[in-house]
Amino acid sequence: MASYLVTGTSRGLGLAMVAHLANSSESDVGVIFAAARSQTPDLQSLVKKSSGRVVYIDMDTTNQVNVDNAVNAVEKRLGDQGLDYLINNAGVGGFAPGWTENLTDLNEEFNVNVSGTHIVTTLFLPLLRKGQAKKIMNIGSTMGSLALAEMFSIFPLPAYKVSKAALNALTIQWAQALSGEGFVVTSINPGTVKSAMGGGKVADLTLEQGATGILEAIVKGGPEKNGKFSMITVPGWENAAGLHRYDGSFMQW
Ligand SMILES: NC(=O)c1ccc[n+]([C@@H]2O[C@H](COP(=O)([O-])OP(=O)(O)OC[C@H]3O[C@@H](n4cnc5c(N)ncnc54)[C@H](OP(=O)(O)O)[C@@H]3O)[C@@H](O)[C@H]2O)c1
Repeated sequence: MASYLVTGTSRGLGLAMVAHLANSSESDVGVIFAAARSQTPDLQSLVKKSSGRVVYIDMDTTNQVNVDNAVNAVEKRLGDQGLDYLINNAGVGGFAPGWTENLTDLNEEFNVNVSGTHIVTTLFLPLLRKGQAKKIMNIGSTMGSLALAEMFSIFPLPAYKVSKAALNALTIQWAQALSGEGFVVTSINPGTVKSAMGGGKVADLTLEQGATGILEAIVKGGPEKNGKFSMITVPGWENAAGLHRYDGSFMQW
């Protein structure tokens, strides 16, 4: 019975991942720590329905004291066990109509998407070291790929693109630092998912498809995936005609 901690679970992909995990067999998934900066009605309802399996953890990923308190709360619940899977999902990003010349949101996006991920990974590491699975997954984006920057230049998201490229760089640093201890640290790309951030109806995938793809990728990822950036796999979308192919392949940095 593996334990999971997902950040940014108030809504969107994070909430959908918690819902998916809560519906999974108890022989595969044990306790699920749903971390968020507030307990929204949807999250509250999942916690209530789960009979103690989904545990709400109050956590703003950018606030070190807050993350420290979250570690203590998780440790208390786990007892002698470690934490198996960490999914760094919390993120921000928005269209910047003024483009790069008027880029004003860089610090905020960098703070959440990169520094927050780093704080959470660092402070949860002792618990992850005690875990069996030793898997850490960061949620990347096509927008963070330098190789594909030209192709995606029509999207006015300069701060998001910079922060997600840096998140990929951070993923590599952690993968190298922890590979000797048997960890698998990866960056996963969910393509476009119908969340507030993903562009609502115009996105390719439902929240359930995106969440399932991410969760399957973290469970299946072996050492060959350490320090790699991959697309999720979505049955029926492997050869999609749009900008993304959901075939589980490695992405270009
Ligand atoms: N949707 C897509 O198409 C897509 C594509 C590629 C990558 N991604 C990535 O997938 C992840 C989830 O995105 P989404 O589509 O689900 O977006 P979303 O619906 O906007 O949800 C973002 C989540 O992150 C949380 N969050 C933001 N800042 C936080 C902080 N400092 N501490 C804790 N939680 C924080 C939000 O909490 P609040 O409710 O408190 O604001 C919310 O729960 C992000 O990392 C995003 O970059 C999404």
